[in-house]
Parts: sequence; C-alpha cells; structure tokens
Amino acid sequence: MALLIKNVYVNGEKIDIAIDGKRISAVGKDIKGQFDEIIEADGLTALPAFIDMHTHLREPGYEYKEDIASGSAAAVAGGFSTVCCMPNTKPVTDNKYIVSYIVNRAKEVDLAKVYPIGAITVGLKGETMAEMGSMKEAGAIAMSDDGQPVSTAQMMRLALEYAKDYDLLLCSHCEEKSLINEGVVNEGENATRAGLKGIPSCAEDIMISRDIILAEMLNTKVHICHVSTASGAQLIREAKARGVKVSCETCPHYIAGTDELILGYDTDAKVNPPMRTEKDRQALLKAIADGTVDVIATDHAPHHYEDKDVDFSMAANGISGLESAFSLAYTYLVDSGIISLDKLSELMSKRPAELLKIECGKIEKGGLADITLVDLNKEYQIDSETFKSKGKNTPFDGWKVKGKIMKTLVEGKVKYSV
Ligand code: DOR
Ligand code: ZN
Repeated sequence: MALLIKNVYVNGEKIDIAIDGKRISAVGKDIKGQFDEIIEADGLTALPAFIDMHTHLREPGYEYKEDIASGSAAAVAGGFSTVCCMPNTKPVTDNKYIVSYIVNRAKEVDLAKVYPIGAITVGLKGETMAEMGSMKEAGAIAMSDDGQPVSTAQMMRLALEYAKDYDLLLCSHCEEKSLINEGVVNEGENATRAGLKGIPSCAEDIMISRDIILAEMLNTKVHICHVSTASGAQLIREAKARGVKVSCETCPHYIAGTDELILGYDTDAKVNPPMRTEKDRQALLKAIADGTVDVIATDHAPHHYEDKDVDFSMAANGISGLESAFSLAYTYLVDSGIISLDKLSELMSKRPAELLKIECGKIEKGGLADITLVDLNKEYQIDSETFKSKGKNTPFDGWKVKGKIMKTLVEGKVKYSV
C-alpha cells in the first residue's frame, strides 16, 4: 500500500510524505508517483505518533471499565500508535499466559500496538516475585506493580536485580502506604477546606528516595511513574545530576490540574497520586523544561460511571486520559510557551521509545510511518461523551484546549481519522 500525505507541516515547513508499506519512502516538496491513497493535509502538522508507557486497558477482568478494543480505539483517537498496559487486571498480569492473551487480543483488534507490562510480584501483593523471564519471552516490555507500591525495600531490591538481568525497565508506583492513612486527596489547604483526608507529598517522595537509593547502589535503572510533587521532581533532578540511572514520567493531569479541582467534590478529579498544589504544578513545568522529566504518560485509568458516582472517599482513583493527553499537554506546555513542539514530541514519543527500546515514528526517509496529524490551531472543548474509551471519567470535561488529533497512522495504515 502506497500512501501520500500532501502539504503537511514538518518542523514548520510544508512538505509531502510518501509512505510505502510501514515505512516512509520519501519526504519533500511535490512528491510525484503512483499512490493508492492521497491525504490532503493542508494546514495540519505531522508528528511521530505518541507512545504511552502507562495505560490501563483493564482486560482481562474489568471489561465493564475498558477492554483492549475500546482502549486501543481511544489510543489511536488520542494520537497514540503504541500503549503499554499496566498489570492490575483480574487476574493480575503476572504470568506468561495473560501476557500472551493481551498480545494476541491486541493483534486481533489491530488498532494500536499494545505492549503488556508484567507484574513485579504475584497478584501485586508484594510477597513473591513474578516470573519476569517467561513474561518477557511472551511479550512483556517492562515490569511494574502499578496501582500498588512494592512495599518492602528488600522486594524492590530483588526486583531491580532481576530486572537488570533480564534487561527490563522497572516502573515504580511510589507510595508509602503507612502515610496514606485513609487520605483521598492532596494533604493541604484544599483538603482541609473540603473536609477530606489528605495524602502528604512525602508519601510519594519517601518511595522515590528509596528507589533512587536502591538504583544507585545496584547501578541499575529505575523508572518513576506519575511524579506529582515538586519535591519528588527535585529528588530525581539531584539523582540524575550525580549519575543515577533514574528516569521519570509525569501526566497531563498534573500539568493542567491542581487540587482545587476537588473543591466541588468531583470524583473524576480523584486520582492516585492526587493532583497537588499550584506550586507543585509550576515545579513540574520547570522539571519538564529542564529535562528532569523524561516522559509524559497518560496513566489512562478508565472507570465505570458507577465506580465514580459514590461518596468521594469511596470513589475509584483515576482519569480517562488517552483522548485529552495531547491537547492538554500542547495547551499547557507548548501554546503557553514553556517548551517547544519538538520537545513535547520527544516527551511523548522519542524518549518513551528509548526507555522501552522500541522503534518510534520518525518523519524522514526510511522512518517508521507511525504518524499523527494534528491541527495545532484548532481550539475545542474536551467532551468525554465523544471518547472512544468506555471511561468518561475526566475532570477536564468542557475545558477549552488547543491542538486536535485529526489522523493517526500506525505502520503506514490509517487507524484513526476525524
Ligand atoms: O489513579 C490511579 N488509577 N492510580 C493508580 O495508580 C492506578 C489507577 C487505576 O488502575 O485505576
Ligand atoms: Zn500508579
């Protein structure tokens, strides 16, 4: 299949992109030739399609919240060619059979590329290490107990040693449970105002410190999931400066939102770790700009309406994030002048690909044709009712943003089109 994308902006220049099979065969002005399909992209911008290293697809077990088909549709609608799905499924993705199941089901669905992340411990219980080697063979791309911390330092030490041997990235959900103490939102003024119990920043920071210390001692890599605190970002900045192999991600909701969003008791704003203060948000913007933050990941956590339509303290944690990730990141990072579009592309495609050792889209001759076409000038309102995801749970519903996903190509095939 040969495809031509005409008049598309790449690095500010209007060019054509010719695609043959899954690779780009030519880039330049006025490309001529025989094509099965021509996409007139006047005014749109081409970016390497995004890679989300932190997605919850919920299948197997919680298909009423999301399944591989709906989650994959949400991914390509959000401009993602690739998602890595977390193992807090039912049963937990802690063995090769479930890893294989996810790989095969995603191939049947044939929308986004889906890479399972295997559990570090059996049942996410933190007690017995899961079989990393056989999960890797079955297609697991990384290891994580996300949703739960690896509570003991001894288990984390062992897991880091095994992950090093198997050359798998270990993604750590940093939460010191003893400090949660029934907290449901960020500890601070807004929690007090709302009369809700708080989760202190140090619950996250202590675990980030522990993991940095372990990675430093073992001279191995560790990836910190969903950093939400100013102090956590500072710990990672300092560790990187002395050569520790630590990487990290933050999410669109920590870039765009703060704990003010909980003042109306909107349970869609309940997420773990919680949205923090404006000071934290500003510090994260700085950490993104100065390279402390490696990746923007969604932590796409779809939930059923009924999981959220309960008392705040009982509501499930999580935000349906795939379909608003780019526009929130573009609006709050690029349109606001904090980073360049190129840098955002690195945070959402190149860097996650490097950490996961996979190929990302590259808009040059020979590059993989994982391409997202975006309308950078398009202002629109986020409308969760239009989400392909089963999860309509977002506190950003109705927010005005800029930058709309118009088409997503995965390995040269159009998988989403407005
Ligand atoms: O808000 C969250 N939701 N944080 C997590 O760590 C897990 C996730 C989920 O699975 O719903
Ligand atoms: Zn998590």
